[in-house]
Amino acid sequence: MKPKYKRVLLKLSGESLAGNQKHGIDFDTVLRFCEPIKKCVDLGVEVAIVVGGGNFWRGRSSGDMDRTRADHMGMLATTINALGVCDALEQLGVDVRVQTAISMREIAESYIRNKAIRHLEKGRVVIFGCGTGNPFFSTDTAAALRAAEIEADIVMKATMVDGVYDSDPKSNPDAVKYDTVSFYEVLNKDLAVMDSTAASLCKDNNIPILVFSIEQPDNIFKAVCGESIGTLVKTD
Ligand code: GTP
Repeated sequence: MKPKYKRVLLKLSGESLAGNQKHGIDFDTVLRFCEPIKKCVDLGVEVAIVVGGGNFWRGRSSGDMDRTRADHMGMLATTINALGVCDALEQLGVDVRVQTAISMREIAESYIRNKAIRHLEKGRVVIFGCGTGNPFFSTDTAAALRAAEIEADIVMKATMVDGVYDSDPKSNPDAVKYDTVSFYEVLNKDLAVMDSTAASLCKDNNIPILVFSIEQPDNIFKAVCGESIGTLVKTD
């Protein structure tokens, strides 16, 4: 099997790490996600990961709380997830480093772009915690930003839906899934792929986004090998 990409940025939704529990971390589920990641590493693909935090906390739906504080709590949630994914990968024998955008040096390395690239070149998976380190930015935006910084070939968004639709498939049974769609359409039709900040960042830096379902974890491996799954968002 020959990989299609040399360096990928995998975005894992926090929610997906909860498995059927819907909250917190289901470690068996995390291990299942990590098996295809190991297969990618064994093929020589450099894998960086950004994890969400929605299985613990969502800054944007925190009611009357101060948004900045709520987002700080969300960043801590992503770090818990980063450590969980790190542990699962290590149990499978993968070398991993966690780097956080907000320093917590007793727990993880601080984010240093060149060091992250060096880890990747040495075949280590790098997991980025704390999002961008700034409030008002999503972990999708963190994925786009880190992908641009490390010059990843693609952002692979492994999530709870199997691609991008022209309308919400939950409310519209006639919704049609795109195989490929342009950034222009995504931004103009406000298609639910990523928030506009994240999509714009990928567009401006010419980084395609592949959106696919994590329900079959092997999709991660299939995506890296270039099988046509999910929806590819790209420049025209
Ligand atoms: P090389 O420079 O390629 O040897 O990378 P390395 O990560 O193996 O070496 P380093 O000596 O930097 O790190 C050894 C271990 O310490 C790794 O598990 C790192 O993740 C960890 N580590 C490095 N810096 C920090 C830090 O600031 N905080 C914490 N908690 N761990 C760190």
